[in-house]
Amino acid sequence: MSTSTSAMESLLVENRVFPPSEAMVKAARVSGMDGYNALCAEAEKDFEGFWARLARENVVWNKPFTRTLDESNAPFYQWFDDGELNASANCLDKHIGTPTENKVAVIFEADDGTVTKTTYKELLARVSQFANALKADGVKKGDRVLVYMPMTLEGVIAMQACARIGATHSVVFGGFSAKALQERIIDAGAVAVITSNYQMRGGKELPLKAIVDEGLGMGGCDTIKTVYVYQRTQTACNMVAGRDKTFDEALAGKSTECAPVPVGAEHPLFILYTSGSTGKPKGVQHSTGGYLLWAKLTMDWTFDLKPEDVFWCTADIGWITGHTYVAYGPLAAGATQIIFEGIPTFPNAGRFWQMIERHKCSIFYTAPTAIRSLIKAAEGDAAVHPDRSDLSSLRILGSVGEPINPEAWMWYYKNVGHEKCPIVDTFWQTETGGHMMTPLPGATPLVPGSCTLPLPGIMAAIVDEVGNDIPNGTGGILVVKRPWPSMIRTIWNDPERFKKSYFPEEMGGKLYLAGDGAVRSADRGYFRITGRIDDVLNVSGHRMGTMEIESALVSKTDLVAEAAVVGRPDDLTGEAICAFVVLKRPMPKGDEAKAIAKELRDWVAKEIGPIAKPKDIRFGENLPKTRSGKIMRRLLRSLAKGEAVTQDTSTLENPAILDQLGQAY
Ligand code: WTA
Repeated sequence: MSTSTSAMESLLVENRVFPPSEAMVKAARVSGMDGYNALCAEAEKDFEGFWARLARENVVWNKPFTRTLDESNAPFYQWFDDGELNASANCLDKHIGTPTENKVAVIFEADDGTVTKTTYKELLARVSQFANALKADGVKKGDRVLVYMPMTLEGVIAMQACARIGATHSVVFGGFSAKALQERIIDAGAVAVITSNYQMRGGKELPLKAIVDEGLGMGGCDTIKTVYVYQRTQTACNMVAGRDKTFDEALAGKSTECAPVPVGAEHPLFILYTSGSTGKPKGVQHSTGGYLLWAKLTMDWTFDLKPEDVFWCTADIGWITGHTYVAYGPLAAGATQIIFEGIPTFPNAGRFWQMIERHKCSIFYTAPTAIRSLIKAAEGDAAVHPDRSDLSSLRILGSVGEPINPEAWMWYYKNVGHEKCPIVDTFWQTETGGHMMTPLPGATPLVPGSCTLPLPGIMAAIVDEVGNDIPNGTGGILVVKRPWPSMIRTIWNDPERFKKSYFPEEMGGKLYLAGDGAVRSADRGYFRITGRIDDVLNVSGHRMGTMEIESALVSKTDLVAEAAVVGRPDDLTGEAICAFVVLKRPMPKGDEAKAIAKELRDWVAKEIGPIAKPKDIRFGENLPKTRSGKIMRRLLRSLAKGEAVTQDTSTLENPAILDQLGQAY
């Protein structure tokens, strides 16, 4: 892999095509391009009939639906809305009485390597018992419950227990700060928090409950009645009498049976906050019926799941990938899955490969960032190279969260998949609920760096600013022309923002705007994502709003007068955060500048979370602005990359600031 060229601006142009093996085509659920085309044709011909068939075949309904799609209040689309179901029953109860009931549902490997296995039957009992604990404390259908948990089986149990009683969960990633937590609790109006005393990552014990206490202490969280604390480690944590209880206390004497509460198909299964182009994170609201259908179906289509597969998605439950492909999809599909608490580099960077061998993983799904960092590690130390592990159990590889550069793709294909495992490069978003565009392992010829084609029924297209189709070979704006079952329903508490962000009037109000640019190849019509077209950054596959980080910086009012944040390409993390800051004091130099840069980084970590810390901080006496006072972001992006500025700078009041801003601390 090149170190001088960024991952995003790949040197290698891979034009080779990798068709699926004959054996793979033969055995696959969607077999060959004929199989794929037949499904697409079915969706074209009878859109609603297509989805209705799939929803009947893949979801267990307490009350069957009679309406498939209701567009009367578009873009607030409703799917299967008079049907009733329970998501947890669709993941657990449905396997009881079948051979799957005694199958291992979860192989959990802790940070320290301890392995525990839980069958479907055992998982159902644990989820039911926790659901009873929630019920006993008055948590009921429609209530919101905030989950701030480490990557453990208990995190999944918490989510499933909420779903079981019809409570809407909102999971917040363990790397977010007390302030971020408080904002989400207030916005969601949560009645309870489910957390853990500590989390274990890379051999380190990191606090979680203390952060919850700090967040609740910031005020405005009076809706919270109970805080459940999973004792992950032996270390004691502060417990507030009357409010906090340990899992053991909550579960004591509770039955391991709990009837699942049927909810309407449109009932909000969860809210997941994500970054947008303005300062405030958006609470993406998902449905129960449509979401669950897509979680189950994409397990079958994209991963071609077989009963004997061992599935491993490395995403944290704090992100959408950990929702759909850890907490719901694998269970709904009856898979055996691996859940891993730790990090890929502990105790060494061979951990993933060793775990694949240990648990005979057959489907491995991870992010390009992880692959790139493991390539680097393997190139530096033969002892952690995938060759040192027996990876012969692998059958399918997956990639998610950001564009995968062809260099990383080829390495993954050769060194991990030994040129026999197709790579499904899955493009999707928090808002889409599940995969949108991806190769199918037994159908689609692969082209490195391309997410290839939309799944059947997903009407993806590339258009210009006003919504007109653009010919293949020309870059444009990625949209989806028809609704689909697992799409975002609204932004919690902000339906207007939902409409404006995703169905903009300028484009006719009917196209779903993904926020990404894309181009289709002239020959195959394959899609390649070219990156976000809004002010959203993708750092190590984590979504971050530039405005969110700017707001955090300027809220340090004793120090910061003005701030602008842009992304720059980074070999390892895809993009890196670069902040340009005007201080309320003279330009700092040398050690002083370094000290202030550190202070600002720590501040952002406190305001949002360590994942939002700017990598570069640059100081200037001003920011480059147009005559009308708009910050020239394109110019800042050039500076951040270290490129020569080619834009017209004649309108700049003080061109000398370009030299100042060129220097990073
Ligand atoms: C980017 C993660 C290229 C994209 C599931 C999208 C990708 C954003 C891919 C959503 C991919 C995700 N190829 N880009 N295979 N997958 N993205 O909401 O910019 O955390 O809009 O969902 O990640 O990030 P989110």
